[in-house]
Amino acid sequence: MENPYLPYPVRIEKITIETEDRNLKTFRVGFLDPEDEKKFAYHPGQFAELSVAGKGECPIGIASSPTEPGFLLFTVNKAGVVTTHLHNMKEGDILGVRGPLGNWYPLDEMEGKNVVIIGGGFAFTTLRSTLVYMLAPENRKHFGEISVVYGARNEGLLLYKDELAIWQGRRDVNMHITVDATDDPSWPYHTGFVPTITEQKITSAENSIAIICGPPIMIKFTQPVLEKVGFPHETIIMSLENRMKCGIGMCGRCNVGAEYVCKDGPVFTLAKLNTLPKEY
Ligand SMILES: Cc1cc2nc3c(=O)[nH]c(=O)nc-3n(C[C@H](O)[C@H](O)[C@H](O)COP(=O)(O)OP(=O)(O)OC[C@H]3O[C@@H](n4cnc5c(N)ncnc54)[C@H](O)[C@@H]3O)c2cc1C
Ligand code: FES
Repeated sequence: MENPYLPYPVRIEKITIETEDRNLKTFRVGFLDPEDEKKFAYHPGQFAELSVAGKGECPIGIASSPTEPGFLLFTVNKAGVVTTHLHNMKEGDILGVRGPLGNWYPLDEMEGKNVVIIGGGFAFTTLRSTLVYMLAPENRKHFGEISVVYGARNEGLLLYKDELAIWQGRRDVNMHITVDATDDPSWPYHTGFVPTITEQKITSAENSIAIICGPPIMIKFTQPVLEKVGFPHETIIMSLENRMKCGIGMCGRCNVGAEYVCKDGPVFTLAKLNTLPKEY
């Protein structure tokens, strides 16, 4: 049996500074050993533990899609010890990736349905993975209408700006990009909070599933909007970001009631979350 604590060595191939405040960077990494890439078969919604030698590791959602072979993407917010060391690394440096970990968005259940993706701030990472997966030529036909509401405090804080523009131009996805406020009179998209834009644009829950990821305040105000439109709690899917250590259900750090967020989650339906203590 392989040691589940052993990371795969990967090389940083490209670093993209995502936001104007430079606090978010996307790391494109490649496996040193192609055999490791084969073993790292993942699904949209999963995460990995990224490790910096001698500094520690931390859980980060996988932002790339399995339909993008040859590399992985991780978008990292500079928050503390490990993420600051990651931000100080350069292209060519080696780091560790342990995973893939956790469950994933139920893409098989989403087949044949309309999908609403709602994201706020830098939590769009695994939503990017899901969207790229669904829009891949071999997969697009399996899903109905795809709608996306994605917002940030201002335009400088939006992730994946080039891709947002491409998705906005596609006919087979209803993109609703928004910022809380802007001084730019030429801003081409929406202005307003994510729950408000969701209320304006998502007007039917028929044969639909919603996946939502973002700051707790955004989720708190978006959930009633989806309920009002008629989404049953079984069709509202969220991803939790509890503190974690082992990532594999061994240390008990991430529990919510009897559930291990690292193993039973991070993806849960709202129906399931309703049965758990409000510790998340
Ligand atoms: C499943 C999962 C997926 C995640 N995906 C991403 C991602 O794609 N990109 C990203 O930038 N971050 C993501 N995070 C959050 C990320 O793991 C934390 O920011 C990271 O652990 C910080 O590590 P650090 O050593 O740099 O900070 P530390 O030095 O450990 O902590 C710095 C500060 O961040 C707080 N903190 C640490 N961990 C968390 C956490 N899990 N949630 C909230 N606050 C925390 C600490 O309390 C402290 O205030 C994810 C977390 C989980 C559980
Ligand atoms: S992080 Fe150790 S049990 Fe979940």
